[in-house]
Amino acid sequence: MTFFNKERKLILAVESSCDETSVAVIEDGSKILSNIVASQVKSHQRFGGVVPEVASRHHVEEMTVCIEEALVEAQIEPEELSGVAVTYGPGLVGALLIGISAAKAFAWAHDLPLIPVNHMAGHIYAAHFVEPLQFPLMALLVSGGHTELVYMKETGSFEIIGETRDDAAGEAYDKVGRVLGLTYPSGKEIDALAHLGQDTYHFPRAMIKEDNYDFSFSGLKSSFINTVHNAQQRDEELSVKDLAASFQASVIDVLVDKTIRACKEYPVKQLVMAGGVAANKGLRDRFSEEVAKELPGVTFIVPPLKLCGDNAAMIGAAAFVEAEKGHIADYHLNADPSLTFMSI
Ligand code: KG4
Ligand code: ZN
Repeated sequence: MTFFNKERKLILAVESSCDETSVAVIEDGSKILSNIVASQVKSHQRFGGVVPEVASRHHVEEMTVCIEEALVEAQIEPEELSGVAVTYGPGLVGALLIGISAAKAFAWAHDLPLIPVNHMAGHIYAAHFVEPLQFPLMALLVSGGHTELVYMKETGSFEIIGETRDDAAGEAYDKVGRVLGLTYPSGKEIDALAHLGQDTYHFPRAMIKEDNYDFSFSGLKSSFINTVHNAQQRDEELSVKDLAASFQASVIDVLVDKTIRACKEYPVKQLVMAGGVAANKGLRDRFSEEVAKELPGVTFIVPPLKLCGDNAAMIGAAAFVEAEKGHIADYHLNADPSLTFMSI
C-alpha cells in the first residue's frame, strides 16, 4: 500500500527544535501551500543566545496558533491531509518536545500517521523547493549548531564525510559578533560589514590543507578575539569592517576549498548548501563562481533566504521521502536532542 491514498498528497509539518515555531502545509513534497514561522529571536537577544526554557515557553504559546494559521492559509481541512510530520532532533529537548506533543495530538485527533524528521535532513531538502534533488549529491550543512559535509548516494541516505571538530560556523559568527558588541545572532550583520571591508588581518585557515573533510573554527575565533583584546589593551583603533571581512574570508576559504575538493572526489550531480549560514552572501557568491569554474556538470543549489533558517516547509519536504520509505512513528516517539544521520 502506498502512503498517499487521498486525492492530494498533503502533509502538515511542525518544527520547534530551537527558537522558531513553524508549521507548514506541503503538497507533493515540492509545493509550499503555507509556511508560518514565529520567530522568538527578540526574546533571546538580551541574553546573547537562545535560553532553552524561554524557547519552550514561546513554543507552547505559539504552536496552536501556527497550526491554525498554516491550515487557513493553505485552505486545507485536516481530513484532506495524509500525515503529520515533526522534527524529533537534533535540537533543544524541551523545545522539540513541544512540537512532538502538538504533532501527536493533532495526528491522534485526526487519525493521521506521524512522520519523524531529522532537522538536518530538513535543511538539505529545503533545496528541493528550488529544483528537484538529483543523486548522488553533496550537501554542505552550515548552521548555528552544525557544520557537516554530507554525501547522499540516493534520496533518504546520508553519509557524513566531514564535520567540525569544535565550533560550528554559525556559532563562530555569533561568538565573534558578541566580541564586536553586535546583536545576537550576528551572522547577517557580519556578512553585511564584511562587504564593506578588506581581508587585512589574515586570520588562519584551519585544516585547509589537511587530507580530510573536517573543519575547525575555534582557532579562528581565538585569533579574532586575541586581535581585538590586544588592540583594546594598547588603545589601538581597529576597523570593524576589516575585521568582519577578514573573519568571513577565512570561513569562506575553508568551507569552499574543502567542499569543492569533496565534490571532485565523489561522483556528484549537485552541490547543495543549506542551514542558517547558507544565507551568507559572500559564501553564496563564492560557491557560485567556484562551482562554475571547478566543477563542470555539477549544479549548485542553495535555498532562498527565507528557507535557509529554521522553518517547517523543509521538514515537510523531507517528510515525503520518509513517508514513501514507510518511516512512520507511533505515539512513543521521543525527542532525540543529539540525533545524527547515523541514528536514522
Ligand atoms: O539553521 P539556523 O537558522 O539554526 C540552527 O539550526 O542553528 O542557523 C542559525 C545560524 C546563526 O548562527 C546565525 O548567526 C547564522 O545562522 N546566520 C548567518 C547568516 N544568517 C544567519 N551566518 C552568516 N551569514 C549570514 N548571512
Ligand atoms: Zn537549523
